[in-house]
Amino acid sequence: MRPKLVVGNWKMNPATPGEASALARAVMAIRPGRASVGVAPPSILLPAVAGALRGSDVRIYAQDVHWEEAGAYTGQISAAMVAELGAGSIVGHSEVRRDQGDTDARVARKATAELRRGLRVIYCLGESLDQRRAGRTSEVIATQVREGIGAIAREALVLDHFAIAYEPIWAIGTGVVATPAQASAAIATVRMELTRLGIDGDATTVMYGGSVSAANRAECAAADGVDGALVGGASLKAEEFAAIVAAFASDPRS
Ligand code: PGA
Repeated sequence: MRPKLVVGNWKMNPATPGEASALARAVMAIRPGRASVGVAPPSILLPAVAGALRGSDVRIYAQDVHWEEAGAYTGQISAAMVAELGAGSIVGHSEVRRDQGDTDARVARKATAELRRGLRVIYCLGESLDQRRAGRTSEVIATQVREGIGAIAREALVLDHFAIAYEPIWAIGTGVVATPAQASAAIATVRMELTRLGIDGDATTVMYGGSVSAANRAECAAADGVDGALVGGASLKAEEFAAIVAAFASDPRS
């Protein structure tokens, strides 16, 4: 059985270390059952959150890392810095792809840098609204898997430390959640393409992300093949995040 994972992507929130620590402590109080829980604060707040979560099972992720170890990369953080705080990282989020020009090849290098250090990675991918409307969803996702995940150094790709988040861009921050059928179909494509690459798709954790909320948590958790959620807006409200975690922790399929 694949492990369940629910992670809060805090994006550019909250404003202060004090607020971040308070939110982290509220997440620490969640009883996740068999699911694993994580938070991804802005990098400047990682030390405060790591301090607040010391001794807990809550995983910490950066929202992005650079692929190089050190050097002249203004504004970036390295896997080594993240490792120092006991964190892993999200890579390939569509907002980073959009704002910073990340390509599948660059995301693969970032994932490789993390995995080589033994850190946990959440690898995001997903299609745009135009691509879905054009009937290209499967093709786009398959290409992202092939050219991104397929380019991760194979010896570094430890599935225990690797999760994928299928995040259709049109569902992120819009309140429009993918239907269970849409999420399941896309995730089945991801697993099929992984298997084609010689990576065990059935053993790979694949989460769904995009407008997951307390209102739709049950249908998200029950969708076939969905092993968890990457939660943006709703993860900033501890009670709502706890309700989403609970839906995955009590998954009737397991
Ligand atoms: P959202 O964001 O839950 O606010 O839609 C999800 C994400 O971008 O990871």
